[in-house]
Amino acid sequence: MATLIYILNGPNLNLLGTREPEVYGRTTLDEIESACHSFAADHGVEVKFLQSNHEGQLIDWIHEARGQSASILINPAAFTHTSIAIRDALSACTAPTVEVHLSNIHRREPFRHLSYVSQVATGVICGFIIIGTKMAGVSPETTL
Ligand code: DQA
Repeated sequence: MATLIYILNGPNLNLLGTREPEVYGRTTLDEIESACHSFAADHGVEVKFLQSNHEGQLIDWIHEARGQSASILINPAAFTHTSIAIRDALSACTAPTVEVHLSNIHRREPFRHLSYVSQVATGVICGFIIIGTKMAGVSPETTL
């Protein structure tokens, strides 16, 4: 059975491509998903690529990934800075977790500097627009 990786995307990321392109780039979420699937196929990995604007849905997917996903890549979007519930759900997973942000949250508004998710993530990649998702996928830690 192929190694399975969950790639979870939080609120407003469905608007990528047209949402503040000067911050997040012009690549759409569909294009990111296609790139992830082809990258995964090249590496014999299966990807579940999901997006939700709802905190509870993201938590349910983290629970689903628990025990069956080799790793979790997550861009929790605005929930990064607010959600102890997502942090706790990730903390209950033993799989390596990579937190990914398109923008460099540390050079933006002060409210984006706090990430609850970083406290339980194996690693964090931010500021490389869509290349970050690829970088997270190639880390040997994430594809065990
Ligand atoms: C983001 C950064 C967050 O602060 C923001 O709320 C997002 C996207 C990023 O990918 O840069 O929605 O996670």
